[in-house]
Amino acid sequence: METQVRSNKDYGGSLPVQNVQELASNNFIHIPYRYIRPEMEQDEVCSDESLQIPVIDLSKLHADDLELAKLHEACKDWGFFQLINHGVGEAIEEMKCVTEEFFKQPLKEKMGCAQLPNNIEGYGQAFVVSEDQKLDWGDMLFILSLPVSGRNMRFWPTNPSSFRPTLDKYSSELHKVAMRLFKFFEINLGIEKGNLTSKFEDGIQGIRMNYYPPCMQAEKVIGLTPHSDATGLTLLVQVNEVKGLQIKKDAKWVPIKPIPGAIIINIGDIMEIMSNGEYRSIEHRAVVSGQKERLSIAAFHSSNIGTDVGPLSDLLKNGSKYKTLSSEEYVRLVVSSKLDGKSLVHHMKIQQ
Ligand code: OGA
Ligand code: NI
Repeated sequence: METQVRSNKDYGGSLPVQNVQELASNNFIHIPYRYIRPEMEQDEVCSDESLQIPVIDLSKLHADDLELAKLHEACKDWGFFQLINHGVGEAIEEMKCVTEEFFKQPLKEKMGCAQLPNNIEGYGQAFVVSEDQKLDWGDMLFILSLPVSGRNMRFWPTNPSSFRPTLDKYSSELHKVAMRLFKFFEINLGIEKGNLTSKFEDGIQGIRMNYYPPCMQAEKVIGLTPHSDATGLTLLVQVNEVKGLQIKKDAKWVPIKPIPGAIIINIGDIMEIMSNGEYRSIEHRAVVSGQKERLSIAAFHSSNIGTDVGPLSDLLKNGSKYKTLSSEEYVRLVVSSKLDGKSLVHHMKIQQ
């Protein structure tokens, strides 16, 4: 098992590009060309403030109850919801603090956790696959936190000194929340008990801490390119009060208003594929502020190493809508692709 996890380093990585936090501290007249995104001017942002993703109360979710039906609708219609009363508030608050502390350090310190060639973990930028590709206005620290046997402590900051134990606790608490949700998805989708949860129980968890510096031409850049998450289920928290997450609904971008203390949950591509299309992964992006930096922490949950990525056998009544790949083939595909909306899921779709 261990050797398989460690071979993650062979899956490929991202091309190195300039640190954006440092770039943003320059006083230039024009921001570099590779960060200018013409699509920002064309894309419509929804102005209807009342349009918001559903709110699900985890403490109210029991088999056979209204909240469960609400969860099912949220996964089908929105692919996004905010989770309240999740019981992991303390772990979240602690994680927010150490994340802020990490990014506050001088660049030289942070570079102690820098990405290495052909490796997806570490401090840097993700999904840069060509020299002429447009770039995002943000830096990130990505750590593979589960399974524990696959951890590479080289990328785990030692500063602040509480970083490692805090991330360790965060990792296990969020994994538990994700597993509770998978159990409810199983009930809602009519999957035999254990047939979904067992696929995620020993799965890979990756934690991505995003840092989006303010930009003097914020309306021209993108913090994080439109994408759907290639993994199964994402649990995202916003670290400070600066908003920026937008999701695509009916061809418009809907800005998300995070409820203080809530976790923003979204369905990823693996969950869309395993549910044979009943649940949908939704395109989303992050925009940046003109005044203040924005930070967020995304915890991605994927299926177990060695578990195929394909529609579940319980859900094939109307035939299979997606191809099945081995977990290794799937990870390779993800790492070698640049972020491009839902292109990965389209690639997996069986044309009918
Ligand atoms: C991500 C993501 C959004 C945000 O990390 O995959 O979508 O608000 N982040 O930072
Ligand atoms: Ni995302």
